Amino acid sequence: DTVILSKMLFPLLINFFMAVICYIITVRLIPRLKEKFIKANLFGIDFSKTTSDKVPESLGVVTGCTFLITMFLFIPVPFGNNLLEKGTFPQDEFVKFIAALLSICCMLLLGFADDVLDVPWRHKLLLPTVASLPLLMVYYVSFNTTTIIVPKPLRDILGTSVDIGLIYYVYMGMLAVFCTNAINILAGVNGLEVGQSVVIGISIIIFNLIELSGNLWKAHQFSLYFMMPYIAASLALLKHNWYPSSVFVGDTFCYFSGMTFAVVGILGHFSKTTLLFFIPQIFNFLYSAPQLFKLIPCPRHRLPKFNSKIDKIGCSTTIFKYSELNTLGKLVFKLFKSFRLIQWEEKGDVIVTNNFTLINLVLIYFGPLHEAKLASFLICIQIVCSVVAFIIRYPFAWVFYDV
Ligand code: UD1
Ligand code: MG
Repeated sequence: DTVILSKMLFPLLINFFMAVICYIITVRLIPRLKEKFIKANLFGIDFSKTTSDKVPESLGVVTGCTFLITMFLFIPVPFGNNLLEKGTFPQDEFVKFIAALLSICCMLLLGFADDVLDVPWRHKLLLPTVASLPLLMVYYVSFNTTTIIVPKPLRDILGTSVDIGLIYYVYMGMLAVFCTNAINILAGVNGLEVGQSVVIGISIIIFNLIELSGNLWKAHQFSLYFMMPYIAASLALLKHNWYPSSVFVGDTFCYFSGMTFAVVGILGHFSKTTLLFFIPQIFNFLYSAPQLFKLIPCPRHRLPKFNSKIDKIGCSTTIFKYSELNTLGKLVFKLFKSFRLIQWEEKGDVIVTNNFTLINLVLIYFGPLHEAKLASFLICIQIVCSVVAFIIRYPFAWVFYDV
């Protein structure tokens, strides 16, 4: 028992200390590299400030790199003992580790390419799919379990478990696409992209720590190896990205984060629980869908609108002619209107509504708000949703499953 305990805790302890060092290095590195990013034409203008200074963008690539370096240096810790004793090397676990890093690394590269080259939207969907292929391959080789346990109420029809085969792989690929893009479209307020990612990351860590005492502890230990340095590197970025932002995170960071969550969820066998921590993102995605799929016109930027007179942020709008919407568009508009999900103004045929994002929805009911307050508010929503996720995962799960 003590052997298992030390095998479980010792690498985690080392990982934790390496994460702390990772934080210290990243937090110092970011301000030093700022000028270089501006010189390389990687900058953005903060739409919610009165000044139009250049703010270095895509600093997520620094976070990603310090994370990867920490992970590379960490590899000998869990696998070192086996290197000395010949013939005991756990090839399959090592492959999992390397494939996970490969997928994350791949996504970091593709995210950075997106920041530099501005990839069109449909390609943004393709990138994470491609980056998740190595992962799915490893999943195929090492687990290849595609059976899902059927919830109790449906067992009379479907039996206790069903093998959904290929669909399971499609689902995992889509998980990667969802996680990466969902964070990217809940954005536009200083500190929000990193803030929400940190909350999701910490929720996953808490979940892993709870599950560490169960018999699947290895999967959760594996997840913790990734999540602790991830949180460390992200907190360092948050420090510089919080209001007033001195750096922007770029799509690089959103993709890197989303992929890291997808990777630990898939290889740690808790992808459904991972999704539970994405409640605000799922809502924001569904709410955004009419604009994402062009039923309602979608401007290039949907981030909320800054009012310099009162130094507060209000919702941003989109303008269109009702008669130019297609049937589905008209239906969505009516539906959102009747559920008070939007604020709208009609002048004859011309309609002005808020852009369909969770941020704007919050602003309709509670706005206008100061930028830092808005970011804190949205992060609080994320935290509350994580609490709800834990309630669904633990006390409620017995309603649907035998746990
Ligand atoms: C996504 C959103 C877009 C939103 C943008 C803001 C969708 C489909 N896309 O696009 O609506 O406007 O993110 O991040 O929902 N910026 C700020 N303050 C911030 C963060 C960003 O002003 O706190 C501005 C900066 O000019 C920055 C730019 O947003 O340069 C970054 O936008 P980018 O990440 O390229 O936009 P998308 O991810 O394509
Ligand atoms: Mg973005």
